[in-house]
Amino acid sequence: MTRIFRRVAALRCWRRSLVGDVGFVPTMGALHRGHGSLMERARRENRYVIVSIFVNPMQFGPQEDFHRYPRTWEADVQLCQSLGVDAIFAPLPAEVVPSFRVVPPPEMVQVLCGPHRPGHFEGVCTIVLQLLNIVQPDRVYLGQKDGQQVAIVARMVEEFHLPVQVVRCPTVREASGLALSSRNRYLQGEEQRVATLLYQALALAVKEFEGGERSVGNLIKSMENFLRPYPQLRLQYIECVDLETLTPLDVIMDGMTAMLAIAGYVGNTRLIDNVLLQKRRPIVAIDGPAGAGKSTVAKLVAEKLGLVYLDTGAMYRAITWSVLQAGIDLEDKSAIVELASNLNLRVTSDAQIFVNGENVTQVIRQQAVTAAVSTVAAIPEVRAILVKEQQALGKAGGVVMEGRDIGTHVFPQAEVKIFLTASVAERARRRQRDLQQRQLEVPDLAEIQKSIEERDYKDMHRPISPLRQAEDAIRIDTDGMTIEEVVDKIISLWQERL
Ligand code: DC
Repeated sequence: MTRIFRRVAALRCWRRSLVGDVGFVPTMGALHRGHGSLMERARRENRYVIVSIFVNPMQFGPQEDFHRYPRTWEADVQLCQSLGVDAIFAPLPAEVVPSFRVVPPPEMVQVLCGPHRPGHFEGVCTIVLQLLNIVQPDRVYLGQKDGQQVAIVARMVEEFHLPVQVVRCPTVREASGLALSSRNRYLQGEEQRVATLLYQALALAVKEFEGGERSVGNLIKSMENFLRPYPQLRLQYIECVDLETLTPLDVIMDGMTAMLAIAGYVGNTRLIDNVLLQKRRPIVAIDGPAGAGKSTVAKLVAEKLGLVYLDTGAMYRAITWSVLQAGIDLEDKSAIVELASNLNLRVTSDAQIFVNGENVTQVIRQQAVTAAVSTVAAIPEVRAILVKEQQALGKAGGVVMEGRDIGTHVFPQAEVKIFLTASVAERARRRQRDLQQRQLEVPDLAEIQKSIEERDYKDMHRPISPLRQAEDAIRIDTDGMTIEEVVDKIISLWQERL
């Protein structure tokens, strides 16, 4: 049963009783399959889902369609119910429209829709901040259709340190390519066909981009030429900006994610749409439990394919080594986070790792570090720091990244995803052999096996980014395989994929 709350106090009272993650989908109602896809995603990723339905008067200009904006309450409630939404929050304007305003940074509203809708994003930010504060979700789901809105809200969340994760969800389209929008309901007869020109023009640019065109000027010129014969679409803008900063781009370089956006009027209806343009070299993600041979294999794969090898476990180890050096108690998580936030980590293309200028590549392999690293890697703030760095390192692609969460969290869009594993017994034997070869002290097999089981348990049961196989990862069970066989297998998968 979907609960309905109109009053802040009631929603708060209910919210307080929830144990588990809350996903939040803010909407203005007139729900369609686009909203539906956000709710479904929220449903999959959270224990509870809250949808707000509120036609925010602050985000409409005086000449805009606030009064005629579609209101379809009954159907909205039904859709929420059918998708298993736990609660709808439909507040009263008097309770949620503040007299304060949240003003977005000028450079983010000087582009795209900003100049055409003065005050719009201020209205959006003010109410979104208000709703986030009331609902206190763990994740908020926003649609890429309103790409400028996502970028601005994501920046607001970052700069105000709001404890919520912004999830950007892909645009849902009709078979004709038309992006779903509550405003499509305004389109009459012929206008529906004219509206599809927006996406057709974008699709043309995508094709040219895929054919190698990198000049924004040329892409926009082709779109304008394509649209010229159709005066029924009154073009407002075509612009290309960086997806996150909204900085206007002239050239789309490898490793960038560009948003190519278009807006125009069809009759009295203002429509917007956008596509993402990005090109980078491919990424190979190799995840799996401790001791499965990930680093040996990843290094060889990188060498053979001419890619850069990045061992993300080494980054967790480097922080752990620093924690031990500083004599910080492993129980003192906040002290660990304070230290990690101040560290300067540097990873070179030849797999050397530096902490504040000191090369720690060797020392981070010590047993003391191995014993402590799972604890440090389970701290959400430590992961946030490293995931951000790893994403920056892999942005342009051309890397083999190895870890526990590369295919699931760091680069879920990696071209080749491997889950490399082996039985505990086999991993223990390998570890024993390795210690013998390095003429180090060799504990008995049962003891090694126990410590591997403990690490597996910690990696698989931590609340954040637990080790698991990504749905689209290929599992390679390496029991009975030689290193060469494993490497060959990954290289042939790479060749198949690309
Ligand atoms: O692969 P390794 O043993 O060097 O990894 C060290 C630790 O870091 C391991 O306990 C799990 C953690 N780790 C992680 O949580 N996420 C990664 N991407 C890589 C490693």
